[in-house]
Amino acid sequence: MSANHPLNDAEALAALDWYRAAGVDIAVGDEPVDRFASSAAVPPRRLPPVAETPIATLPLVTDPAETRAIAAAATTLDALRAAMEAYDGCALKHRATQLCFADGNPDAEIMLVGEGPGEQEDIQGKPFVGRAGQLLDRMLGAIGLDRTKVYIANMVPWRPPGNRNPTPEELALCAPFLYRQVELVAPKLLVTLGNVPTQFLFGTTQGITRMRGQWKTLSINALSIPTLPTLHPAFLLRTPSAKAQAWKDMLALKAAMVRDGVGA
Ligand code: URA
Repeated sequence: MSANHPLNDAEALAALDWYRAAGVDIAVGDEPVDRFASSAAVPPRRLPPVAETPIATLPLVTDPAETRAIAAAATTLDALRAAMEAYDGCALKHRATQLCFADGNPDAEIMLVGEGPGEQEDIQGKPFVGRAGQLLDRMLGAIGLDRTKVYIANMVPWRPPGNRNPTPEELALCAPFLYRQVELVAPKLLVTLGNVPTQFLFGTTQGITRMRGQWKTLSINALSIPTLPTLHPAFLLRTPSAKAQAWKDMLALKAAMVRDGVGA
């Protein structure tokens, strides 16, 4: 489509759909700002100094102290889910269809942590139900696991618009919810799926291709949980040649299960 001709109906709908998927309908300020009008009204060379430019400053994300307090007050998974349903402080919630809390067995000894819901997860309200989830099920099945034997949650429980990565602020805000889920499930083994949960939970910028397959200990309050970072199934769908590495990680998980008598 050229920038100069008026859009036909199909082009206009496609453009709107693209803007919607990119999250353009998430408010970033109290008042709407017509940036087309302001840029047209002010010739570029006569722009005011930066300090005088009106900036939409409404924070998208509120204080993690708030989510910490809410999470700490929840003494059961049901209470935590209800508290998260009621919480309005995360901008992601306002763009998502619904809360995507968890899937699997709350009594499981193995927990998996992903990044955040995608389109299908947002529609169904459960983690890992799209194509990546189907691959995850096959990976788990190969070592004798299924969703009756694992518990699955994400770093952020609301879908980031357009499937972008959660921002550091969104991760920090939602982390207390995830930590509390881990405490309430108290798994014996934990698996992080991909860069986002691995880097956040271990406070590192090291990439998942370096970290995968190496057991680490995740400490959350009184808990110390052996944790295995592995590749995200969505990455494996895009990079089938990496499946051999993921398979090695699944075998490492199986070996730990056998060693610790976990996940029977
Ligand atoms: N990717 C994730 O990280 N989590 C999901 O729930 C789905 C896809």
